[in-house]
Amino acid sequence: FNPPLSSSCVQVSQYACQRRTTLQDTNRIFTDAFDILAEYFEFSENKGRKVAFLRASSLIKSLPFPITAMKEVERLPWLGDQMKAIIEEILEEGKSYKVLELMSEERYKSFKQFTSVFGVGLKTSDKWYRMGFRTLEDIKNEKELKLTKMQKCGFLYYEDITSSVSWAEAETTDQLIKSIVWKFVPDAVVTLTGGFRRGKKNGHDVDIIITCPRKGKEKNILHNTISVLKNQGLLLFSDIIESTFVETKLPSKHVDALDHFQKAFLILKLPTQQTAIGDIIDPCGCEGRKWKAVRLDLVITPYEQYSYALLGWTGSRQFERDLRRYTTHERKMMLDNHGLYDKSKKVFLKASNEEEIFEHLGLDYLEPWERNA
Ligand code: CTP
Ligand code: MN
Ligand code: MN
Ligand code: MN
Repeated sequence: FNPPLSSSCVQVSQYACQRRTTLQDTNRIFTDAFDILAEYFEFSENKGRKVAFLRASSLIKSLPFPITAMKEVERLPWLGDQMKAIIEEILEEGKSYKVLELMSEERYKSFKQFTSVFGVGLKTSDKWYRMGFRTLEDIKNEKELKLTKMQKCGFLYYEDITSSVSWAEAETTDQLIKSIVWKFVPDAVVTLTGGFRRGKKNGHDVDIIITCPRKGKEKNILHNTISVLKNQGLLLFSDIIESTFVETKLPSKHVDALDHFQKAFLILKLPTQQTAIGDIIDPCGCEGRKWKAVRLDLVITPYEQYSYALLGWTGSRQFERDLRRYTTHERKMMLDNHGLYDKSKKVFLKASNEEEIFEHLGLDYLEPWERNA
């Protein structure tokens, strides 16, 4: 018996790592709504519903057809009654009044503003909200308020940092870091990762991962690179985190736990491109200025962990969540940015590239641009 190939019969895996999700989202009207709801529940500290909406959004992003009728989403995983009601509302009205209503709530609006500042997360937002602050103006006017160095920079370079990083700016950053790193360690491997590796044309930051095939030679790269950036006047902010990796530790169960690599969260003073006649191309509205503040994450990894680190830092975040969930529940293994542990064999599985990790997990290989879950 061959069922007819219609959209309602398409089998869709509950795991993003078994779906090919490109940037071609033909259902943005629905996924935008779900992403906003995920954020709404994140701000209300309702982790369960946040994850539920992220899963639903991610699932819809993988659909190869635009949703035009309710019967097309009937049998899809992760779409509960509440989600279907929102899809139905959007199909009928072109928008969801439920979503618009939640978006206009005071707490959502304040948290949206607060968390847009570099260095401000849920904890600080909640504190400020309970202190009675509602807008960024409120915060700026309160001279007594203690801000971390990171948050001060967040306010100082707010416009630059919240305007997205273009592909060209990511490329410039990548070239700059490569030229510096290769002066110290000519055989260092420097890879642009994160959203840009997945093919995104812009992002909120630049993510770069660095390793070296010669054991231990990666260790001084971070400090040396940051010194050069500082001496060249290109460094506006740096937060350096030393490695906390312990070989005997099993991969972390927590999907959102930070990894243990040596890394730095930076703000660069990135020179903007100039044309031959010296005119400043001004993509960010930074008129008359020859630079733009750009967020850069640098991650240093030992060579034998590089493939796992690359897989982890390429994202998307939802792809990574599902990859770990799949590993735990379908393979009885443990995966994090450092390695893969087989619980039945009690061994760590080596991998010299991402393809081998997918093989260990019994998954078809997904290219980075198919991981936009
Ligand atoms: N990541 C991580 N540990 C962190 C931060 C990030 O493992 N402390 C991983 C996440 O899996 C994420 C990827 O690195 O998917 C890139 O993170 P991020 O820059 O926040 O997201 P992008 O996908 O690059 O999106 P954007 O364009 O907004 O930067
Ligand atoms: Mn990024
Ligand atoms: Mn991001
Ligand atoms: Mn990042």
